Amino acid sequence: MNYKGCSCFFKGAGEKFSIINGKEAERMREAEEKIRQALGAQGQGVRVRALGETDSTNTRLKEWARAGEIHVPCLLTADCQTAGRGRLGRRFVSPAGTGLYMSLLIQPPENTDGGKITILAAVAVCRAIHELTGLQPKIKWVNDLFLNGKKVCGILAEKIDQGIIVGIGVNLLPPPGGFPPEAGAAGALNADVDRFTLAGRIGAYFLDGLNKLDFGDAITYYRAHMPLTGREIHYQKDGQQKNARVTGVSDDGGLMIEDDTGPHVLRTGEVSLGSREVEDIFRDELGVRS
Ligand code: BTN
Repeated sequence: MNYKGCSCFFKGAGEKFSIINGKEAERMREAEEKIRQALGAQGQGVRVRALGETDSTNTRLKEWARAGEIHVPCLLTADCQTAGRGRLGRRFVSPAGTGLYMSLLIQPPENTDGGKITILAAVAVCRAIHELTGLQPKIKWVNDLFLNGKKVCGILAEKIDQGIIVGIGVNLLPPPGGFPPEAGAAGALNADVDRFTLAGRIGAYFLDGLNKLDFGDAITYYRAHMPLTGREIHYQKDGQQKNARVTGVSDDGGLMIEDDTGPHVLRTGEVSLGSREVEDIFRDELGVRS
């Protein structure tokens, strides 16, 4: 890790000693305080950490957990990531100053399946963005969030021995020089929102949903904001591209589809649409409240 203007040592859990100056340490403490305030009552018992630069907030939590240096639940943010990870082995471009990069490590209640966690996370991000900006993102199964036809948020959930890590990346502004071609249909909220407050509100909605053990509310919201139902999509099966029609979202977050072999429920993976269709289906009605 590189920090400039060093004047004191700081040890992050499980990391090598990194050097940051007093001002930087103070900024991180203020960030953690903002996150705690936004978490409100849901923050009880949650460990909060804000870092400057890191490799990946998901990787950090995984390594801290492996080293036994972590408290669960934990919410971690970073100003930027040098090795941000996306789904399906992709890179997640994470420059400083334009995005929110956060991960939550939680121990879900027994028998909670991963699909539900993913749904809760997507709904929590939508609700927090809507609360703080008035914008209403739409969800593309399973957990990409779109605004004005562009992907503004991705979620990477990973199971580890100590629980589940839910990593969330939100593009607040376009990076200087624009999104790289590999970012595909990426866009940004372009909203004046404090990223630490957003991290805390996402955490609050997510933990509230998790603690309630009532998944019905989240799935209702998810269905209302996931406009693929009734649409033709493509998906991969056994290395082959298949076409199907989406018939709905199952109670545990699977994508219900129908193809020439009958009805199926997709549990993981990714579905695709033509780029014109993405633009059309996920075009947002700005400022719509729900
Ligand atoms: C995707 O769209 O494929 C998922 C992107 C997930 C990115 C977030 S940013 C915070 C956390 N740390 C990572 O390395 N990835 C997730």
